[in-house]
Amino acid sequence: MMKTLHISEAPFGATQAGVPVKLFTMENGNGMKVKVTNYGGIITELHVPDRDGKLADVTHGFDSVTPYEGDVPYFGALIGRYGNRIANGRFSIDGKEYQLDVNNGANHLHGGAQGFHKQVWKAKAFTRADEVGVALQYTSADGEMGYPGKLQVEVEYQLNNANELKVVYRATTDKATLVNLTQHAYFNLSGVAEKDSILGHQLQICADRYTPVDAGLIPVGGPVAVAGTPFDFRKSQAIGSRIGVDDEQLRRGLGYDHNWVLNKPVPGLLALAATLRDPASGRVLELYTREPGLQFYSGNFLDGTLKGKGRTYAYRSGICLEPQHFPDSPNRADFPPTVLRPGETYATESLYRFSAA
Ligand code: GLA
Repeated sequence: MMKTLHISEAPFGATQAGVPVKLFTMENGNGMKVKVTNYGGIITELHVPDRDGKLADVTHGFDSVTPYEGDVPYFGALIGRYGNRIANGRFSIDGKEYQLDVNNGANHLHGGAQGFHKQVWKAKAFTRADEVGVALQYTSADGEMGYPGKLQVEVEYQLNNANELKVVYRATTDKATLVNLTQHAYFNLSGVAEKDSILGHQLQICADRYTPVDAGLIPVGGPVAVAGTPFDFRKSQAIGSRIGVDDEQLRRGLGYDHNWVLNKPVPGLLALAATLRDPASGRVLELYTREPGLQFYSGNFLDGTLKGKGRTYAYRSGICLEPQHFPDSPNRADFPPTVLRPGETYATESLYRFSAA
């Protein structure tokens, strides 16, 4: 029997500047439901079944656009032009130096204060044979947040009947610039953020190495082996099993807030990066990506002051798994490059597959 895929759109209020924004609801034949707004390209809700088929919303977010315009730690947002940190917001391309917006101590983080997560994107719903989705478009002006070149960005969210949410990214530029796009959804597979910290979730990361950081969370030195450290998630581990051990890197991150170097026999291959499991509900998230790195952030800055969708977002009530290039790559000749030039197309994708066991 054909399972039905469905997409609808509705108003989601207006920004403080008076720009109307929309909320798109994608639904598949299993009842899995994903809501996306064209403000920041944000995933606001993500409903997936547990082992008994019971749906729950497994992501942090709000019910209207207004709170997203405030001081929010990137809930559900598309991040650009550069996901993660660039030391002192400085880099050079072809000998020319650039200064980016500095919004995280001395450093640039997640595209700057008015990064892509704070922009209204053009958006269009689509229905194809095997998927429904939303195509988002944003033109980032030459000089925005300090980045050179006018950047045309396209991101598609695609939902199919295999409970897979795919995020497909494309960008082109008219001057050499930096691009490192990612998705910043918080996950709590229990669906009950206020009660359940994610310390009991089991995580596996397909990485033999990670990049240790300085006090400002900028990588220092090269990647090191995870073996024998609390960063070893090669076998599935409870997130809380070692988060409290006395370790300099955990102290710097206030928990996990680091980049793992994904094992990739072929660079750019769409391959499994991580598996997150909630033993109580049975919900499982498998994340596949073409990106070389994965930032795993254990929600260390959440403190219960943000509330939305009838929930309180407590300390470590959600985690982020951000597929991306490594932090500070523009200043690191030894890391995979993040420069995009005119005539080239930036293209990457990540896939979030939900199941239950
Ligand atoms: C990323 C960063 C973290 C933090 C969160 C949002 O994951 O690496 O340090 O900024 O975003 O709070």
